[in-house]
Amino acid sequence: MLRALLARFTRPDWRKLKGAPALGTKVCALTELADERPKYVKIGSSEFLCFVTLRKGQPRAFVADCPHRHRPMGTAGMPALYGDGEIACHHHGALFSVDSGVCTRGPCKGQRLCPLPVRSIEGFVVVG
Ligand code: FES
Repeated sequence: MLRALLARFTRPDWRKLKGAPALGTKVCALTELADERPKYVKIGSSEFLCFVTLRKGQPRAFVADCPHRHRPMGTAGMPALYGDGEIACHHHGALFSVDSGVCTRGPCKGQRLCPLPVRSIEGFVVVG
């Protein structure tokens, strides 16, 4: 019970995850996000999967590790399922806010995706 409560209110640290990219690693080109739909991206040669999108012109990313069963939420290179500012995990349909990463509906309601800090530099989205 306490563990579930802590998971609900704490944010995981992306730097502690297996395959975490170094600061400055390229995530994708900004042009790939022109339609503002979230996309799954594998960073570098690792299995580190995130989804990235533009919100009000600024890149935003979360690690695509569903807190329900810790499975990848989608497939690299594919657009993320998206509607009304939410992204869906394709396993059991949990919905997450693209702005906050909080699960708004589904089996892990109230839990959070791990945010990945990103910024745009010279036409690319980079970690940092
Ligand atoms: S693994 Fe994502 S909803 Fe179950």
